[in-house]
Amino acid sequence: MKRFLALMFSLLIVSIASAQNLYNLVPTPPMGWNSWNLVEKEVNEQILKEIADAMVKNGMREAGYQYILIDDFWVGGRDNQNRLFPDQNRFPNGMKAVADYIHSKGLKLGIYSDAGPLTCAGVTGSFGFETIDAKTFAEWGIDYLKYDYCGAPEDVETAFTRYKKMGDALRATGKPIVYSICEWGHRKPWLWAKAAGGHLWRTGGDSRDVWQSNNFTYLGIMEIFDQQEGLQQYAGPSGWNDPDLLMVGLYGKGKSSSLEGRFKGCTTIEYRTHFALWCMLAAPLIVNLDVRNIDDTTYQILMNKELIAIDQDKLGKQGYTILRKGELQVLKKELEGDDVAICIFNRSEKPVSFNFNIQKELGIWFPLSVRDASNNKSWKNVKKVNGILQSHACIVYRFNNFGK
Ligand code: GLA
Repeated sequence: MKRFLALMFSLLIVSIASAQNLYNLVPTPPMGWNSWNLVEKEVNEQILKEIADAMVKNGMREAGYQYILIDDFWVGGRDNQNRLFPDQNRFPNGMKAVADYIHSKGLKLGIYSDAGPLTCAGVTGSFGFETIDAKTFAEWGIDYLKYDYCGAPEDVETAFTRYKKMGDALRATGKPIVYSICEWGHRKPWLWAKAAGGHLWRTGGDSRDVWQSNNFTYLGIMEIFDQQEGLQQYAGPSGWNDPDLLMVGLYGKGKSSSLEGRFKGCTTIEYRTHFALWCMLAAPLIVNLDVRNIDDTTYQILMNKELIAIDQDKLGKQGYTILRKGELQVLKKELEGDDVAICIFNRSEKPVSFNFNIQKELGIWFPLSVRDASNNKSWKNVKKVNGILQSHACIVYRFNNFGK
């Protein structure tokens, strides 16, 4: 009896530990690179290796960008045992060889599939093969799965069942695999994705490389940003709202994000604001530009350590709007150690000046110091913040209440 109890106790400890392990897979929003907008259907082994090399060399890995995510179009088909295999011309050495290489660089590899019979691009999906596909991914050493929803029924019950089926299959492999749910926010996944095993879930459609599209079929950065309003209560260290990829630095060159050149990209100010807003939202920071050739300005935007620290803050709070004054929007994000990040954002087409009393208008009581998170400046004994913001620009302040 004693031995039986001891065995049950150790099984309990092991299962708590492994549940903890899965639970703790994304204690902060994942950061990395995704293949979709740069290479679409040409994703291949060589490019992935070059991207990994570049991210090690240029310091992005050290800054936290650790996932290399293969998006749609990698599948070649199923073999005679129903196992997925990659396109043999583009992945001549198989997927495990890619994973081994990426891991040898201290990075992690993600892959893509779909809850329907075919993916959004029309190659083989996982519907009906969830268990075998999850096993295959685990055997290859895959660390992250983005699971799309093309070719699947509209209703939320089926979506939950299909996502949970893959979530359970991933969990059953025993290999920690981040599970990214991508049904474009249509069925309010923030309410059920965690129960399906998800670690992050897209809250909207695909972002295009445009500030504002004024078209709800093709979403611009502003349309996506506005969709995050009110979702802050669902984000945290156990799962994240995902407002889609960062367009920063694409300048209209991303294939699907510009829809073959239809969207010409954004200005540098807009990309800077896009990055800052995604950090305020505790969003996953997944770039999809060619990191082998980054210009200095884009590099500075993506490597802003203070903004990354706000995104990756351990409390895991998503920022939310506290004030709108004309075209100015103010967001607040609570941070570890009673720090607070405040973002003041000019939505208008013209420069706008601002002047806020930090107690009365921003609700911050005894800040001992304030830092401008983009310009490496700090002040003490501050009663108000003021300045001028160019069109679409923002400024992020970090208030520190204990003078650290
Ligand atoms: C959907 C997803 C995109 C991308 C494409 C690939 O549109 O939302 O992020 O993965 O499919 O086909």
